[in-house]
Amino acid sequence: MTKKESNNGKQIRWGKPKFTKIYKKNIFPKYDKYYSHGMIHINNVINNMMELADYYKLDKNMAYVIAIYHDIGLNVNRENHEYESGKILSNDKELKKYFNDEEIQIMKEAVEDHRGSKKERPRNFYGECVSDSDGDFDIYLLAKRQISTSLKNYPDIHGFDGHFKICYDYICRRINNNGVFNLWTNYPFFIQRREKFQKEYLNLEYTKSIYKKEWDRISKDGTMEKIMNYYEDY
Ligand SMILES: [Fe+2]
Ligand SMILES: [Fe+2]
Repeated sequence: MTKKESNNGKQIRWGKPKFTKIYKKNIFPKYDKYYSHGMIHINNVINNMMELADYYKLDKNMAYVIAIYHDIGLNVNRENHEYESGKILSNDKELKKYFNDEEIQIMKEAVEDHRGSKKERPRNFYGECVSDSDGDFDIYLLAKRQISTSLKNYPDIHGFDGHFKICYDYICRRINNNGVFNLWTNYPFFIQRREKFQKEYLNLEYTKSIYKKEWDRISKDGTMEKIMNYYEDY
């Protein structure tokens, strides 16, 4: 557990209900209209960030805030959502009660640099951590997120096979072209998880069976309908 003294003298401690409660109330509902970037994704990023914060002895409050704000700008501008997220974070009056200007600047830069497809190294270590935490080295999670994105981007494709091909080819291109999914930190557990994920993913039949299960589930329980007509992210 970390304890920190903020610029206005208020003490906050990671995991203290008051602190997390504020953000659960103010920030989490903003992800309600997102599916692939919804709370399943945000919770995954929170867990990853907490793991890294623990391992690298980072400020857990800052790591938490970065995780929950990193995709918040999606409803402003999808293409540049990382900069919109950074703006929202740095203009948030509530955060200023707990963090000083330097901390806000570090968190803003981290959020701005979170995209995994970015080639330049993030400007600070928190940015490296959130970029690494943003990846889904989990086929089940990836199936969920990729199918919904494909449904939104390619509404004219009908049926599982067409969508699966787009999803699978995209990930295989990323695995094969660069050799590996990039990781900025050298956290051993993420490296292990990436190796396992890449190896399993290239097993076409195995991956296809997971995607098919997810496809069948969302077709039956009304989620597919909601992805097309309710959720706003891609
Ligand atoms: Fe993002
Ligand atoms: Fe994200």
